[in-house]
Amino acid sequence: MSSTNPNVKMVDSHTGTATTGHEWDGIQELNTPLPRWWLVILYATIVWSVGYVFVYPAIPMISSFTQGMFGWSSRGDVASELNALKALRGPMVSALGGASLADIERDPKLLTFARAQGKAAFGDNCAPCHGAGGGGSKGFANLNDDDWLWGGKAEDIQQTIAFGIRSGHPKGREGSMPAFGRDGILKSAEVSQVADFVRSLSGLSTEASFDKAAGAKIFEENCAACHGSDGKGNVETGAPNLTDKIWLWSSDKATIVEGLTNGRGNVMPAWVDRLDDTTIKALTVYVHTLGGGK
Ligand code: HEC
Ligand code: HEC
Repeated sequence: MSSTNPNVKMVDSHTGTATTGHEWDGIQELNTPLPRWWLVILYATIVWSVGYVFVYPAIPMISSFTQGMFGWSSRGDVASELNALKALRGPMVSALGGASLADIERDPKLLTFARAQGKAAFGDNCAPCHGAGGGGSKGFANLNDDDWLWGGKAEDIQQTIAFGIRSGHPKGREGSMPAFGRDGILKSAEVSQVADFVRSLSGLSTEASFDKAAGAKIFEENCAACHGSDGKGNVETGAPNLTDKIWLWSSDKATIVEGLTNGRGNVMPAWVDRLDDTTIKALTVYVHTLGGGK
């Protein structure tokens, strides 16, 4: 029952609004105009989108995309923000670069900055071996205590970090514990005696077969050169203090015997070619102030 001739404009008598001219069972469709505010927004967004396409990177091409009038990119934005951050930190970084280790530790502002930089670099480079807080693990030195294999002064630590330990770097720290058992320097009974002697140095229990005088003699002849006659270790050779209840490996007899049989000497890499001087300095300060710097 479309009753209409499309050329005649029909107006709904109730609302006064024009109809579309369609009618179903007496129901007419009103041709209500779109609200003005809605149309304004629609046209504004169209104008905006056209502008946007010209100004910003927008249309994907085969191997690239339209670059926009100013060549802006989100990646470029990140780069410039990073540069701004660098510029902000620049004075601190160059102050750090120019200061000696002693200067840094005397200046609270520089010290805080160095520790923060050092902590970040430690997480990235050192934590896999030394643990997140420098606590270490079996064979990987604990950096929190005041027991140092290679010296705990800031300069010693810097040297260790820069050139490593058994790292193959010509300036690296050298010296390993010989494989007394494997190389036939000591018989297994002697290894057992001297292992017990080592345990006795820090008051640990020894086996019934232990003969202190025999153990002490083996120690003096084979071990004192590196560990010292008193067993207190030597930072020149990296030989640990055996009297202090702090163990690089472990205090149980089996572990000590294993070390004496096969030798010991874990590798710490050199960082001088991988990290810049300022980062190594920041790491030194961080490690030195971790717990027990000397
Ligand atoms: C691949 C493992 C590894 C990584 C990575 C590593 N270290 Fe070490 N580090 C060691 C080992 C193993 C030792 C102990 C060497 C030894 O037994 O003489 C050590 C020893 C040290 C020592 C000497 C401790 C002492 O008692 O004298 C310092 C300081 C140190 N590391 C700092 C660092 C810093 C800082 C980093 C990061 C830049 C780092 N290490 C990364 C393995 C590592
Ligand atoms: C050439 C020097 C040298 C000689 C000689 C030597 N040591 Fe060592 N010793 C070391 C070094 C270096 C280490 C640490 C190795 C490492 O980084 O793991 C070590 C580690 C040890 C450890 C492990 C300590 C710990 O904290 O876990 C024990 C125990 C030990 N030595 C006992 C002996 C005994 C006993 C002898 C004599 C039979 C001996 N050493 C002879 C250099 C030496």
